[in-house]
Amino acid sequence: MVAWKKWLKVGGGTLGGGSAMLGGVVFWAGTTGEQDLQFPDWPMPELAASTDPEVIERGRYLAYGPAHCAICHTGEDRDHPERVMQEPFDGGLEFAMGPLGTRYAPNLTPDPETGIGRYTDAEVARAIRTGVLPSGELSVFMSVSVGELSDQDLVAVLSFLRSLPPVRNEVRQGSWSFLTRAFLRLGLFGLEPRPLEGPAHVPPGDEPSVERGKYLADHVAFCQGCHSPVDMATFRVTGPPYSGGNVEPSHGADTEFEYAPTNLTPSPTGYVGKVDEDAFVARLRGGRQHLTSIMPWENFGTMTDADLRSIYRYLKTVPPVDRDTGPGYREIGSWP
Ligand code: HEC
Ligand code: HEC
Repeated sequence: MVAWKKWLKVGGGTLGGGSAMLGGVVFWAGTTGEQDLQFPDWPMPELAASTDPEVIERGRYLAYGPAHCAICHTGEDRDHPERVMQEPFDGGLEFAMGPLGTRYAPNLTPDPETGIGRYTDAEVARAIRTGVLPSGELSVFMSVSVGELSDQDLVAVLSFLRSLPPVRNEVRQGSWSFLTRAFLRLGLFGLEPRPLEGPAHVPPGDEPSVERGKYLADHVAFCQGCHSPVDMATFRVTGPPYSGGNVEPSHGADTEFEYAPTNLTPSPTGYVGKVDEDAFVARLRGGRQHLTSIMPWENFGTMTDADLRSIYRYLKTVPPVDRDTGPGYREIGSWP
């Protein structure tokens, strides 16, 4: 979800500054740009699904909870976030990005004709780990807004998906517009697949730990990607981690409002500098306060106590940054 608005914004900004010459370059680039997203030879993780019920349960926890796959791989529109936890993973959600194109959330159930039953374990694992789809195309969504799982957790999620009841649901093929292909060709986006190796595994446990918190916040739940300054062309974190993310206009009908991902660092103006561990856990369990927020509140609210406390303890160790990011949801122009 982070990704789609960013693209829209980049697109809008560049659209404004057209000239005849630029138009000519864009035309050339647009007719040739598609190949820049093709990585058919990108290596595949050699991982295989398991039928062990414990592994499947672990994958279920991750996919609905911290890894929040369920918030995108759904047929539900964004007006019903409360349904996220009943998601059958049959896909269909449309990501309409105006002049940049439209993408659709694929069906992740094992249906042999319309779901991941068509693909090998290695192909599915590569999509999740690196963002390169079974078709060979690099998915912008999968490469910039999904956290990285350890081998063990990737196998768990894969095993969970393979265990789902197959649903026949033919999802439309997404496409990028002429304009987006032009941007790609011109190298305006520095997108590359993520590497074959994932982060080291940190197993869950009953005792909270900073190490587990780091694994969850930096990778699996990807709190970092939204709550840090990010470069719009490469989608990489460019400023102090967790010091507050890029401000974006709301994706909903409330177009006069914007979102500012909070500074989470342990400074006097940062979230974990202001609240204690119990209050942090209560807030994460408390759910969304604004319907159109892109933060996956429903998913994170199902995380275990030990996992939430681990995240708090880790955030307490990141370098404090004194920066008041203001209200997370506010009228555009109301905050300096
Ligand atoms: C921000 C929304 C978003 C999130 C979160 C997300 N996905 Fe995706 N995923 C997509 C979109 C959209 C596509 C289709 C490719 C495209 O258009 O970029 C996709 C493609 C895929 C594919 C390839 C399927 C195919 O038929 O080509 C797999 C497998 C997949 N996602 C698994 C996952 C898993 C597992 C998670 C959680 C760890 C996850 N996704 C989280 C949006 C998302
Ligand atoms: C997809 C983007 C996204 C991700 C991922 C994300 N956040 Fe957020 N977060 C936001 C936005 C936007 C806001 C401000 C709007 C709101 O409160 O919903 C926010 C607000 C918050 C707040 C402040 C709530 C308040 O009451 O002031 C906390 C705490 C928080 N996030 C913690 C986390 C943690 C911990 C994670 C990872 C487990 C995380 N966020 C992941 C986007 C995100």
